Amino acid sequence: MKKILVTGGAGFIGSHTVVELQQRGYEVFIVDNLSNSNPDVIDNIAKITDIKPVFGKVDVAVKDELFGFLKQHPGIESVIHFAASKAVGESVEQPLKYYRNNINGLINVLEAMKEFGIKNLVFSSSCTVYGQPEKLPVTENSPIQPALSPYGNTKQINEEIIHDFIAVNKGINSICLRYFNPIGAHPSGLIGELPIGVPANLIPYITQTAAGIRECLSVFGNDYNTPDGTPIRDYIDIVDLANAHIAAINRMEQGKQKSALEFFNVGTGNGLTVLQLISAFEKATGVKLNYKIVGRRAGDIEKVWANTDLANKELGWKAQVPIEETLRNAWRWQQKLAK
Ligand code: UD1
Repeated sequence: MKKILVTGGAGFIGSHTVVELQQRGYEVFIVDNLSNSNPDVIDNIAKITDIKPVFGKVDVAVKDELFGFLKQHPGIESVIHFAASKAVGESVEQPLKYYRNNINGLINVLEAMKEFGIKNLVFSSSCTVYGQPEKLPVTENSPIQPALSPYGNTKQINEEIIHDFIAVNKGINSICLRYFNPIGAHPSGLIGELPIGVPANLIPYITQTAAGIRECLSVFGNDYNTPDGTPIRDYIDIVDLANAHIAAINRMEQGKQKSALEFFNVGTGNGLTVLQLISAFEKATGVKLNYKIVGRRAGDIEKVWANTDLANKELGWKAQVPIEETLRNAWRWQQKLAK
């Protein structure tokens, strides 16, 4: 059984990826400091797969903690590195927290790869590296633009660190997946997103409003240059996204990479405006959403969606879950959380 380390495996994207890995026969080792997740997630993963992943409460940004865990669990061949802080607004308020967690975390993971002979790395990157692209849909060759937040900057710096590391460490491979907007929840209703406090992201805000936890959804601006004036994003189902990680790991394991470091967009290839997403949610769930248009949110870009040709061709991966199903899963998860 192939052993794989998943940092941040109790988080939203991490937990869904662990499920897919286990269902394909990987032995999964999770490290997570539980700063933005809940230990119940580990039990809920086991409810879905009937396999309890090995779990260590480890802060990857603390080298001794990570190395201590890996000493106890030899033979790991690959790592998927999710563990990071991810709130754009908070990163503006607390930049050093973001640089410490996200930069130290990656450096420790890379040092651990050398020390413990881990060959393959999948890194969680973001379409935020493209800023507002000039040409849409955006391809992997589009220019990287100056980051709009410390969070976005950490993703860019992380990609650069991986680039420099891979250049001088023969035999180590990496794939950076640039996620668009991950949404939804597992169809089992057992795992999903766990926003703490007032959600910053659109879907948790929508589902909490639908559930009556929030009074009204604020739509941030309708004066953008888009068909209905609201910003366009590429919303990717969380299980589809999880499966992109499996494809990336398989590609490295099978030696199919064109170069030791590759980048892939992970999106659907379709852009939706905020209002289109709201109406898809209402249609999918039958719940009417209370919303109002307010001013723009600082730092928001107007429109971005992915060209996914490279991922489709090279990874043999394609988004499959229809948006209505994704939104129904998100709603089912919200209703379960509210109980
Ligand atoms: C951004 C980043 C993404 C990052 C994510 C983490 C870009 C393109 N994407 O996503 O890389 O991982 O933050 O948080 O920079 N909206 C509302 N009302 C709300 C919430 C959101 O109208 O209450 C709108 C936003 O204006 C935006 C869309 O919904 O147009 C999506 O917003 P959100 O879910 O926060 O994600 P991004 O900002 O696209």
